[in-house]
Amino acid sequence: MAEQKATTSVLYEETRIFEPSRDLVENSNVMQWMKKKGFKSEREMRAWTGQHYIQFWAEMAETYADWFEPWAQVLEWKPPYARWYVGAKCNVAYNAVDRHAKGARKDKVAYIFVPEPVDQPTIKITYSKLYDRVNRFAAGLKSLGVVKGDRVSIYMPMIPETAVAMLACAKIGAIHSVVFSGFSAGGLNSRILDAESKVVVTTDGFFRRGKPLPLKPNVDEATSNTPSVQNVVVVKRAGIDVPMKKGRDIWYHELIGLKKPDDWVTDPPDIPALEAEPMDSEDRLFILYTSGTTGKPKGIEHVHGGYCVTPAQTLAWVFDIKEDDIWWCTADVGWITGHSYVIYGPLCLGATSILYEGSPDYPDFGRWFKIVEENKVSVFYTAPTAIRMFMKAGEEWPKKYDLSSLRLLGTVGEPINPEAWIWYRKFFGNDKCQIMDTWWQTETGCFLISPLPITPLKPGSPTFPLPGFNIDIYDEDANPVSPGSGGNIISMTPWPSMLRAFYRDPERYNKEYWSTYWDIRPGTYLAGDKATKDKDGYFTIQGRIDDVLKVAGHRISNAEVESALVSHPKVAEAAVIGKPDEVKGEVIVAFVILKTGVEPADDLKPVLAKHVRSVLGPVAYPEVVYFVNDVPKTRSGKIMRRVIKAKALGNPVGDISALANPESVDAIPLIK
Ligand code: WTA
Repeated sequence: MAEQKATTSVLYEETRIFEPSRDLVENSNVMQWMKKKGFKSEREMRAWTGQHYIQFWAEMAETYADWFEPWAQVLEWKPPYARWYVGAKCNVAYNAVDRHAKGARKDKVAYIFVPEPVDQPTIKITYSKLYDRVNRFAAGLKSLGVVKGDRVSIYMPMIPETAVAMLACAKIGAIHSVVFSGFSAGGLNSRILDAESKVVVTTDGFFRRGKPLPLKPNVDEATSNTPSVQNVVVVKRAGIDVPMKKGRDIWYHELIGLKKPDDWVTDPPDIPALEAEPMDSEDRLFILYTSGTTGKPKGIEHVHGGYCVTPAQTLAWVFDIKEDDIWWCTADVGWITGHSYVIYGPLCLGATSILYEGSPDYPDFGRWFKIVEENKVSVFYTAPTAIRMFMKAGEEWPKKYDLSSLRLLGTVGEPINPEAWIWYRKFFGNDKCQIMDTWWQTETGCFLISPLPITPLKPGSPTFPLPGFNIDIYDEDANPVSPGSGGNIISMTPWPSMLRAFYRDPERYNKEYWSTYWDIRPGTYLAGDKATKDKDGYFTIQGRIDDVLKVAGHRISNAEVESALVSHPKVAEAAVIGKPDEVKGEVIVAFVILKTGVEPADDLKPVLAKHVRSVLGPVAYPEVVYFVNDVPKTRSGKIMRRVIKAKALGNPVGDISALANPESVDAIPLIK
């Protein structure tokens, strides 16, 4: 991390303030809690809960989750290792489904599933139906020999069976590893190999822009060298003929005792209910691979106890979810946002969520708005990249629909530019909805910096650290920065849904998050983002300090794309940077050094871009490929992406005298 610069300057200060309505403030969940506790102001409440974070998270755990056995100790903190709710027994699937299905919410709708094909009906799935399917699939997994602690890879589109698969794993104590269905066979393969999954759950295919596309063949390709995989369970979704490997592949509907693919309407015969496995609160719930600074994705581990508490609590406080709300988080379950706010958070609250299978622009840009109108969505959460796409498509799309059911909006995944924020508020939010800009990460499991419904907003700012957190911005010497200047986002204290480890790579966990300030302030979590605070304490996120890209909100490491390029037989070396993009935030630009004797022909460029797509998936597709003879490097051979980026974008490159090959900088072309 030698060339990270922690200190940055602020370019301008936002002066517009958007106050919440009195009605929103007075009726909000957080205000009810504040009144009960006697807090006079938001600031006082945020500060008190930060100071008393252990007490706070104990109370939240009692409020938001049911426990089979109580904890002996709220927190055991031996930096950098935290154990929360020590000794308690729980199961997040029980909290998400069983307790609702057995109680007053049994007939309440958990998911409103909207298939992509316009001629397929919307399906309402109640908590009791979800309970039935989770029980069936949990029993099915058991019958395949899956036991507590086994890993199950889930490679599926946005359909209710994906939720069932995750919850069924949780219910029996298996550890799910969801792999985004936009990753290619190569991306799936490395994640199965690392997790040593016993079972892979997938579909025959999925619908995208009106077309059924196959998915199962990727699994076949990805499992050619994975001895751990004993079974592949296949959900019939798209009606595509796929080869089934005898003795290994099983149809999901047959495994769960249905005669034909599930229509979610027909009531199958009763089955014996299956009790949720009592899990230790520190038992692993899932692994989710995310991109770091090296080419190898890291398996972030999360636990049952934390997941019983913080996704639900933060959703209830930030998005103010009440019994009658219709919640729609548009994230794919392949990413952390889907895990926390499509699956665990809303289900633990007993909320009703929209689950939409397909593209935002199919059959036209009105699709999302139509879903909001038809289902009276009240709280809506998406990514800035989607907002910018709609901005480009034009305000006539939202204007065609009745969006008056919306009362609160949110964004996540990358900084939202104030202009997009204002547009979002105006055209989605009818100029009245407050916007919850939530900052968090795969590692954090829940929002960390975010407004509450009671917070006066500044466009483009996620405002302040949430209750129960102690987040600050440090300079290189671990001093909190003064208003107006920037530095590293850090957390001084642990929280229940923080990552516990990297799967099978304990060293990297210590190094990546805890080593930077260890000598000065041990136990300081380095998030990997830089930010500034203004004079009122409002945070502005400036982006990653490391070589991690955010392309349309998806997290991809430069090194992963470079490795994919280098795996092509004609490529000797590659350097990848992110170029700012109006809609996607940034797009991938690759500088490629070809092997000696290879002609730098223009028609090789799309071949290399496609190669990356086949290795990693469409999310990592390089928009532009340049051929160069050399790339700037340090004397130890590290590619200086920062210098390449500055030169390519026409910015000052700074001092390059320490480079091994300063002359290579001149050869980096200016990109448009
Ligand atoms: C970025 C996504 C600005 C940030 C939940 C972080 C954001 C990375 C915001 C994590 C936001 C997330 N404003 N940037 N509101 N939310 N980020 O793991 O750089 O896919 O470190 O988790 O997304 O990405 P991840």
